[in-house]
Amino acid sequence: MKISSVDYKNQKIIIEIPLTQPTGKIRIKERQGYTDFGIPVATRQKVFNPNMYVEWQIGYDAELNSSKANLSRLKDRNDLIFKAYNGKKKVLYELSEYLYYLYKMGVISKQDVDTLERKIKNIPENSLIENSYKIYKSNPIRKTLNEMKFLESEIKYPHLIYEFDNDFFIIAEITIREKQKAIGIQPMVYICFPVSYLKDQNGNSIIGRKAEKNEKVYFELDKDKAFVVIDSFKIFGMLSKNHKHDILEILKVIK
Ligand code: ADE
Repeated sequence: MKISSVDYKNQKIIIEIPLTQPTGKIRIKERQGYTDFGIPVATRQKVFNPNMYVEWQIGYDAELNSSKANLSRLKDRNDLIFKAYNGKKKVLYELSEYLYYLYKMGVISKQDVDTLERKIKNIPENSLIENSYKIYKSNPIRKTLNEMKFLESEIKYPHLIYEFDNDFFIIAEITIREKQKAIGIQPMVYICFPVSYLKDQNGNSIIGRKAEKNEKVYFELDKDKAFVVIDSFKIFGMLSKNHKHDILEILKVIK
């Protein structure tokens, strides 16, 4: 999501989070505990409560000159353009933008970035998530439903939760799906955190009320939450060969 402001003095980045776009990259969901299944919430109709959370399909780049690239503060920085695994030119967006500013502010050190780079480089190919998991389909059994005969089986998708190492209720979830246009699996990353971390435009919590039409609220990334950015980079670096390449290219341009 778009950065709304970069506050060098207080060493934090404020990120805009839409509350009413249930088909977008951000969804508001509800569950009792973070190992439960989350149910999407109609935020214009239901009052926010502490069991609701943000599920964010976070990214780290945008294709040069794309509409997504317009959301990046760094879209005009030619020195920060990198060539992705698929050969396309990309600009820093979301995670990589946040890493860039946290690094520039001194919240993340050169040593942190060096360590991150070394760890990602050292991940062996056979430990990449795309090479470690598969989707299971059970043997079909015959089943009659409403006098029609079917073959019934079950499909099981791996799911990983990363709890970070922190006092916040922020987690990353990795779900594994079939690739849309090719053979193999595709791990998807989601960052999840309680809606109680969000502030509205007056700096107030949103708990106890519904969302306004097209409402945007704010999430702060400061030095206490910099681990989210660092560890999410690590997660993307271990997803697949493709992601590992792109993440290492990003670390190179940022350094
Ligand atoms: N590519 C861009 N964003 C992604 C995400 N959240 N998970 C997996 N691949 C991605």
